[in-house]
Amino acid sequence: MAKILDGKLVAKEILDNLSDEILFLEKAPCLAVIIVGDDPASKIYVNLKRKKATELGFDSVVVEMPETITQNDLLAKIEELNEDKKINAILVQMPLPKHIDANAVIEKINPIKDVDCFHPYNVGRIATGNIPYIYPCTPKGIMRLLEYYDIEISGKNAVVVGRSNIVGKPMAQMLLNSNATVTICHSKTKNLSQITQKADILISAVGKANLITKDMVKEGAVVVDVGMNRTQDGKLCGDVDFWEAEQKASYITPVPGGVGPMTICSLMVNTYDLFKKQNEL
Ligand code: GUN
Repeated sequence: MAKILDGKLVAKEILDNLSDEILFLEKAPCLAVIIVGDDPASKIYVNLKRKKATELGFDSVVVEMPETITQNDLLAKIEELNEDKKINAILVQMPLPKHIDANAVIEKINPIKDVDCFHPYNVGRIATGNIPYIYPCTPKGIMRLLEYYDIEISGKNAVVVGRSNIVGKPMAQMLLNSNATVTICHSKTKNLSQITQKADILISAVGKANLITKDMVKEGAVVVDVGMNRTQDGKLCGDVDFWEAEQKASYITPVPGGVGPMTICSLMVNTYDLFKKQNEL
């Protein structure tokens, strides 16, 4: 039976320490979140982020824009937030409506306020093994979770399933920077299970319930589930068939309570880190 990688517990520990530090600041770090349109899932995520920021004593601003907003108006709003000294961190909730070029939006964000680490400056810094202003929230949360449980990365076979810019690609890069031997799998990968069976560390970030079954997991593997899916009866579940995989894994993240809390935790830590960098603290 696998040990649980308890993201809820680790995130709480990190955020308890962070809220102690915030008490001594003269002004509060401020996170701005832009949400375009009415996507219900995005609204839930944005509310969660705002709630956590408020709980910690951060200031937060939520900018709601209609689905029909023009790209130019959105870029102008980002420019305004870039210039605003009170705003330390800018997050544009994805996905954006189809008529808006997400890359143009991301590139408009000042890299020192790019709390998601989506800007090519920060992404490029990671790719070249340099230090970015901040690391992307989900991969950073996963790295902290592995570190908390003393899980060795160097020399291990790490398999990342999913190649999104938000999770899969930066996750692979960060594992590589920590000296893992990394394979990225995606929708066109042939013989997925043959590859995952070799993974000492298996990370799934696809968004497909029950994608990872027992036969795909190596005995003793560390299994990290980034998926956030709904079952037919409305329950939250990951990409991994938990009860199957946990019979072979040495460590496994639950859904919920694994990667999700670590992602929000990293967003808060990133906001604080950007605040410190901007104020030379
Ligand atoms: N949509 C889904 N996940 C994320 C995230 O981590 N950041 C942003 N900005 N949008 C998202």
